[in-house]
Amino acid sequence: MATPPRPLAIVILGAGNRGADVYAELMAQRPNQARIAAIADARPERLARLGERLGLDAGALFPSADALLSRVQDLDAVVVATPDDAHVAPTVAALDRGLDVLLEKPIAPHLDGVRAIERAAAKEGAGTVTVVHVLRYTPFFRTLKELLDAGRIGRLVAIQHTENIGYFHFAHSYVRGNWRREDEASPMLLAKACHDLDLLRWLVGAPCTAVTSVGGLAHFRPENAPEGATERCLDGCSVERTCPYSAVRIYLELFAGSTDWPNSVVALGGDRRAVLEALQQGPYGRCVYHCDNDVADHQLVQLEFANDVQASLVVQAFSAAITRRVHLMGTHGEITGDLDEGVLELQDFAQGRSERLNVRVAGSGHGGDDEALVVDVLERWQQRRLGRGGEHAPTTLAASIESHTMAFAAERSRHERRRVAMDEPA
Ligand SMILES: NC(=O)c1ccc[n+]([C@@H]2O[C@H](COP(=O)([O-])OP(=O)(O)OC[C@H]3O[C@@H](n4cnc5c(N)ncnc54)[C@H](O)[C@@H]3O)[C@@H](O)[C@H]2O)c1
Repeated sequence: MATPPRPLAIVILGAGNRGADVYAELMAQRPNQARIAAIADARPERLARLGERLGLDAGALFPSADALLSRVQDLDAVVVATPDDAHVAPTVAALDRGLDVLLEKPIAPHLDGVRAIERAAAKEGAGTVTVVHVLRYTPFFRTLKELLDAGRIGRLVAIQHTENIGYFHFAHSYVRGNWRREDEASPMLLAKACHDLDLLRWLVGAPCTAVTSVGGLAHFRPENAPEGATERCLDGCSVERTCPYSAVRIYLELFAGSTDWPNSVVALGGDRRAVLEALQQGPYGRCVYHCDNDVADHQLVQLEFANDVQASLVVQAFSAAITRRVHLMGTHGEITGDLDEGVLELQDFAQGRSERLNVRVAGSGHGGDDEALVVDVLERWQQRRLGRGGEHAPTTLAASIESHTMAFAAERSRHERRRVAMDEPA
C-alpha cells in the first residue's frame, strides 16, 4: 500500500476572525492533510489564545507576518488573513519563496498592491495564489452557473443582483468596526462586493467593458443622530431602547448567549462580561452616529459586458436579512434566487413551467463554503507538492484581479460622477 503524503506545513498570518476561527479551526480538523507550523498576530492575546488552541510552542508564535516569514523555514503554504492593508508584503514574500498562498480578499485596497502581487505570482518558481472568493464554492452559485451554461434560460440578457449586508452587520463591520474607513481598510464596494463583482463576471462569461456607479454614506452621520443620542450606547442614551443600531440590543440581546461572531470580534472569547466591558470602552460601544466612519452605506453599480449583457448591482446596509438576491433574465426564461434561503426558481417561458431548486447546504460560514474552500486548497496544494497537475482551481488570480479592477473603476465612476470604460488608463 502506498504511504500517504505527509501533511502540508502551513502558517497562518493573522489570528483574528478569519485566521483563527475559520482557517485554523478547519485545518486543525484535518491533521493528516495540514500541520499548522507557526502563527503570527500583532495582538498578543489573540496570538496566545490561538497558540494554546493549536498546542504550539512559544517559538512558533510571532508578533508579525514579517517576523514569521523571515524565520520559519520548511513550509508549503501560507494563509494571509491579516487586515486589508497588510496583504501585499507577506503574499509577495511567500510567493518569492515558492510557497502557495491562500489570500483573503480583497487582494489589496489599491491597484498598485494588486499589481505587485500579480507580478510576484508571474515569476518563475512562484507559488500559487487562491483568493478567498468563498461564494464560488456555494451550490447556490455553482447551480446558477450550470443552469446558464446549459442554456436553460436561453441567452442571458441582464442580471439584477442585490447584496443585502444587513443593518446590524453593517453597523458592526462598516460603522463601528474594521471596515469603517477607506484609508484604514478599503472602499465598501471592494471590501464587501468584490465577491459579487467576481460572481457577475463569472456568470456573464465575458469581460466587463464599462461601469457607472452612484452611492455614498446616507445615514450613519452625526447630523442624523436622534435627539438624546449620546456618544456611547451605555452613556444613558435616551433613545437606546428604540434604536435598531444600539450596541446593547445587537451584542447583548440579538446575540445574547453567543460567543461566536460578532461577539468574538468585540471581545476575546465573546462572553457576556467581556463584551459588556468592551462596549463601555471599545469601538463597538460607540453610537453609530458618532463614529469616525466614512465608507458608503449604499452603492449602485451598472455594468456593461463585452457580450452585450448588462448587470446592475446594489450593495446596501438597510435590510433585515443578510443575503444576496439574484434575478437573471434570459431570452427563454428567468431565474430568481435568494442565497440565504438556499432557493433558486427557474421559469421556462417556452414550456410555461417553473422549477424550484433547493440549493441549501448544511454547514458553517457562508453556507458551508469556507469548508469547501479549505478542502479544495489542501488538495490542490498537496497535488502541487507531489508534482502532479491536480484539479483546476474553481477560480484564478487573474479572474480575481479582473473583478478587483471593476471595483476600482466603479469607485472612480462614483467619485467622478461619470461612466468609466474599463480600458481607460488607471
Ligand atoms: N472571504 C471573506 O468573505 C471574508 C470575510 C471577512 C473578512 N475577510 C478578510 O479577511 C481579512 C481578515 O479579516 P478578519 O475579519 O479576520 O479581521 P481581524 O481583525 O479579526 O483579524 C486580523 C488579524 O490580523 C492581525 N494583524 C494585523 N497586522 C498584522 C501583521 N502585520 N502580522 C500579523 N498579524 C497582523 C490583527 O491583530 C488581527 O488579529 C481581511 O482582509 C478581511 O477583509 C474576508
